[in-house]
Amino acid sequence: MKEIRLSGIRKAYGRETVVHDMDLVVRPGEFLTILGPSGCGKTTTLRAIAGLEEPDDGEIRFDDQVVFSRQKGVIVPPEKRNLGLIFQSYALWPHMTVEKNILQPLQNKGLSRAEIDERTTRALDSVQMSAFRKRYPSELSGGQQQRVAVARMIASQPPILLMDEPLSNLDAKLRLEMRAELLRLHRELGSTTVYVTHDQAEALTLSDTVVVMDQGSIVQIGAPYDIYHHPTNLLVAEFIGEPRINLIEGELTEAGGTVVLQGKGIRIPADAAAGSASRRLVASVRPESILLSTEKRDGWQEVRLDNAQPTGSTTILQVAAGDSRLSLVQTGFVRLEPGIALWIDFDPASVNFFDPATGKNIRTSSKVAGADVG
Ligand SMILES: Nc1ncnc2c1ncn2[C@@H]1O[C@H](COP(=O)(O)OP(=O)(O)OP(=O)(O)O)[C@@H](O)[C@H]1O
Ligand SMILES: [Mg+2]
Repeated sequence: MKEIRLSGIRKAYGRETVVHDMDLVVRPGEFLTILGPSGCGKTTTLRAIAGLEEPDDGEIRFDDQVVFSRQKGVIVPPEKRNLGLIFQSYALWPHMTVEKNILQPLQNKGLSRAEIDERTTRALDSVQMSAFRKRYPSELSGGQQQRVAVARMIASQPPILLMDEPLSNLDAKLRLEMRAELLRLHRELGSTTVYVTHDQAEALTLSDTVVVMDQGSIVQIGAPYDIYHHPTNLLVAEFIGEPRINLIEGELTEAGGTVVLQGKGIRIPADAAAGSASRRLVASVRPESILLSTEKRDGWQEVRLDNAQPTGSTTILQVAAGDSRLSLVQTGFVRLEPGIALWIDFDPASVNFFDPATGKNIRTSSKVAGADVG
């Protein structure tokens, strides 16, 4: 277990800076995920940690060891950083069997034969690839190759694991199984892990900490719960969650002693936003946070059902409220006829408010960026 510390890491390609003065601490044994849209700099950041990319400025430490420093002129090569890596570009060795791919690095470490055998068998079992021991990588599908790469990384039990979209080639079912497996392994090995993905669900399920990046900078750092429930800006709010978060733009108005945000055809309780200087705001509500009734209730708002999409365990409902459209999620297989009236209500605690000009969450923007979530 090691701490990884990035200070002022900057990387440019030509005149374009793709990672801006990044400061980041990954605590010993932590599972940290870097999440963000395509091209935001996730892979570049991970490659810098691995030593595959040389930043233009800044310093990287593993505990007390400086592995990169522009100022001190230190660049420790990747193979000397004692890492487990899975990069799309880091393929298996094509001339070695699956088994040999896993054995070789263990032999290089000088482990005993019994230990090597045990680790290899366990690693292959854990990714369900034991039946393929004697095959060559060219005889495997992309997803199978990826699983062998995961097994190779697991078997070497390094103190730091760096993974760049390691499950991207797997089908949905296998991906879920491998997620569970990675979680179990992380608990067992306790390696400090940096995991890159653009899959928000993967980030939420796996991580102790999620780092959301956009355009080369960190937008928010937090536990999955905080990222999901207290997004620091509209980008994070919209990037995370499936189905998408509901956004309602409107004016703050006072009605009968309470403050509401009046959107097109929809009212959101807004006492929490009342102190805001801005009169025009965007409210966000998660689809599963909207309360729903098939019967008229006092104070609830009437909406019309556009469609119900059962997925089996949950049902996504699209409703129209005046000119606004909202998505709701209900548990179970809901069978309702399109066109019927429904009534909805909002729990004020589940609503966030954003400044439409800056996109910032008016409640959390003052205390978020760089927050060290414990
Ligand atoms: N070798 C390179 N030369 C020039 N530009 C590069 C190079 N590698 C990456 N970039 C650019 O740097 C930016 C960040 O790339 P990076 O690979 O880190 O993105 P990413 O967040 O991993 O995206 P994705 O989710 O698509 O993998 C992109 O705009 C990309 O085009
Ligand atoms: Mg990438």
